[in-house]
This record gives sequence, C-alpha cells and structure tokens, in this order.
Amino acid sequence: MAKERITYVCNSCGYDSPKWIGRCPSCGEWNTFVEQKLGKKTASSQLPSFNAQHSSPLVLSKIETGEDPRINLHDNELNRVLGGGLVPGSLTLLGGEPGIGKSTLILQTVLRLKDMKVLYVSGEESARQLKMRADRLTSDLVPPEGGVGVQVVCEVMIERVFEHIKVVEPDLIVIDSIQTMATEDVESSPGSISQIRECAALLLKFAKESGTPVIIIGHINKEGSIAGPKILEHMVDTVLQFEGDQHYMYRIVRAIKNRFGSTAELGIYEMRQNGLREVTNPSELLLSDIKNSEELSGVAIASAIEGVRPLLIETQALVSTAAYGTPQRSATGFDLRRLNMLLAVLEKRVGFKLGQKDVYLNIAGGIRVTDPAIDLSVIAAVLSSNVDTGIDRDVCMAGEVGLSGEIRPVSRIMQRIAEAEKLGFSKILIPSANLSTLEHTHFKIEVKGVRRVEEALRELFG
Ligand code: TYD
Ligand code: MG
Repeated sequence: MAKERITYVCNSCGYDSPKWIGRCPSCGEWNTFVEQKLGKKTASSQLPSFNAQHSSPLVLSKIETGEDPRINLHDNELNRVLGGGLVPGSLTLLGGEPGIGKSTLILQTVLRLKDMKVLYVSGEESARQLKMRADRLTSDLVPPEGGVGVQVVCEVMIERVFEHIKVVEPDLIVIDSIQTMATEDVESSPGSISQIRECAALLLKFAKESGTPVIIIGHINKEGSIAGPKILEHMVDTVLQFEGDQHYMYRIVRAIKNRFGSTAELGIYEMRQNGLREVTNPSELLLSDIKNSEELSGVAIASAIEGVRPLLIETQALVSTAAYGTPQRSATGFDLRRLNMLLAVLEKRVGFKLGQKDVYLNIAGGIRVTDPAIDLSVIAAVLSSNVDTGIDRDVCMAGEVGLSGEIRPVSRIMQRIAEAEKLGFSKILIPSANLSTLEHTHFKIEVKGVRRVEEALRELFG
C-alpha cells in the first residue's frame, strides 16, 4: 500500500516543509505550521510539466500578436480597471473585506452579459439567496430568446464544479469565494492555505487550457491582504481590490496587479438599494455639500489624482488645545506619519507652535488618498483650524511639501487645473516649478504658483 505523505505547511505564506518547524523561514511567523496529509496525487502535480515536447522556442520578433480580444463587461469602471475588458482565458481575483459588495458587483455584471453563458458557483449562499439578490439588482432577469443567462450552482467541492462545467460549457465562470472551495486531494478544511492553493491551481489550469475566463472572489484578512497565501496573487493574471468604508456609500475598485493593463486605473461606485452604480464624476459627489455650505475653518480643497483620474477632495482638520499631557494626533484616510511630518515642517519652518495642540485630520467621503499633492491642503486645513479662519471656498490647491518647507512640483498638473476649472473654482495654488509647463495654455481659473509654505499661507490668509 502506498504510504500516505505528510507535509507541514505554513498557514501564513504557504511554505512547505517535510518536518514541523516553529518559525517559518519564509515569512518569519511563529507557530504557523500545520500538518497536512496529502493524497497520492495532488492537484498541482497534475499541472502540465514544462517539457520540451510541448513547447519549442520561438523567435520573439516573429511571434504574431494582433489585437487582444476583450470581453466587454458593459460596465465602464470595471472595463477600464481591467485594461479594456476581460481577457479570454484569464484568471482574475477580486478581493475585498466581507460585506463590501463583491458578490453584488460580480452578479450585477454577469447579469448584463446577455449573450454569454455564465456559470456562477457559490459556496456561500443558497440559490434562493442569489435569486433574491438578482431580483434586487435587475428587473429583467429573463434572458432574451435563445439565451440561457446566468446559471447558478451551490457547490464547494472543486471536482464537482468541474463536472458541472463539463455539462454547462460556460463562457465565463465565477467562483464565490475561493475560501469556501475544497478539493478531495487535500485533507484540510476549506479556506486553509493548501486548499486555496490547490483549487486555484486547478482553476488556473482550466482557464489556460480552455480559454474560458474565470473570476475568483476572495476575502481579505485583518491585515488587509488577500486571505490565503501570497501564492494566490502570484498565480492569477489580475488582482482587483474592492475597498471602501462600510459606513460610506462609495466603493473603489483598483487593480493591484494586471498582466493585461495598467495598475493605475481606478473605478468608483456608489452602493444603492438596487446594487452598485458607476460614479462618472467623483469630484462632484465628494464636494456636493461643501459648495452650498458656509465658509468653515479647517477645510481645504485639494486637487488630487487617484489612479489616473483627477479628484477634488476635501481635507478637514481640527486643532485644539491638548486636554491631557500628550497631544493627540489622528488621521483618517491619510498617513499619520506624513501628518506628523507636515506638522513638524509647520513648527520648524513656519514657526507655528502646535506642540501642545491636538490635531485631527480627516479626508471627507471615507476615501484613502496616497497622492502627495494633497500635502498643501493638509497644511492649509490645519492652519485654518488653528487660527479659526476659513479659506475662501473658491480656492483649491495642489502641491507636495518638502522637509524644508518648499512646495515641490506634482505630476499631471494640467489635469488637476482642468478639473478645478470644470467644477467652478476661481483660483488654484500650484507649485511654482510646475508653472513652466503651462506657458502656452490659458485657463479661465486663476493659476497661482507658490514656492514655499509661507507664501501659500500668505496667499490664503493674507
Ligand atoms: P455583498 O455583495 O454580499 O458583499 P460581499 O460579497 O463582498 O461579502 O454585499 C453585501 C452588502 O451590500 C450588504 O450589506 C447589503 C448591501 N447591498 C446594498 O446596499 N444594495 C444592494 O442592492 C445589494 C445587493 C446589497
Ligand atoms: Mg459574497
């Protein structure tokens, strides 16, 4: 009788070891190794081997490519983030926290693909639950004549999923979610590293051999990375991340890896009663209340770029005398270390004493911004709150702040100015160094270059 193989797998990164070890040499985590009994053959051992019979070297310059065929998903945001649509034979991973709207996004998308046969495999919800959700999402569920529309199957064993695939012969497969899938070849519970790895390997093999695109939904763990080994991210062609704050309606989908397009793109949705709605003009959404409200202290508008899109965002600050010995600093939607750095610049270079003050910073709308060009508005909002003087609501700004208080140039200044002009601002402060690139362009909006933080503050507060 063949002896059962036993291996030890790190639950954090998927590292394999023939014996148990206390600390994983790959990821450095302690106590993460679990015993794994392997069947005689594992799924990944069935993967095609790279032998010379199947492949032969080709001259790179002579390989014919032609236009990449793409499947139009009839969703502008998703199409753009994917780089122009879904690629046949691709494996796409959509990650996000539980409850953020992953199933909703994928279900509403596949319901629009009237001319495709879609197999939706759910290991999380019953067929009735899926039907109820679909009813919320669309009023015409019945496919056009001759079409089948979306077929759902509630199944967690990957082998049986493949049997269904053989019968249905779908044009697109959705796996909701990879954490619920299991293969008979591995004796561990669904959601464990080895199950995820084996199931994903089988799906990858299937997608590449059949040319059928597969979308995998995956949950994100507390640390914010996709639960399961990093291996999963390495295996798939595209990793999309669905993020947003549970308490806000906005949802952002961004590509963190894309073999068929750029990772700079970003899609924005709003969660409604009847599903996710594309947001085509995010700036208007984020600024809608402020334009009608009175001038408030501690509010500054930044012309930021997230992905490739300009976005006008509101930075809010509250500065108050520290009630306790140690002043509090907190930032929502902005890097706290960067806030501390900007406060140090204000203190050292501009001479404002903030050492005994609590400083709270918030990016309105629950979005996270990484664009350094919002530094200037952070500084402006902090000072505005500190001196309790509002900033003119017709003014916005863009600029990175350096350690010596200089305003450093930012990328894509034209787009930032154009967006501010489009939304009716009358003045924008930009880094002086960016002015040279604008010489021959005329804007209706007043463009003011600033060199240093003091100069910008004089512009804003007189
Ligand atoms: P869901 O897609 O189930 O999240 P995930 O698959 O990422 O776990 O979304 C669940 C949330 O979305 C739930 O709190 C209800 C909300 N929702 C709406 O607000 N409108 C809708 O039309 C739908 C279907 C869900
Ligand atoms: Mg779900």
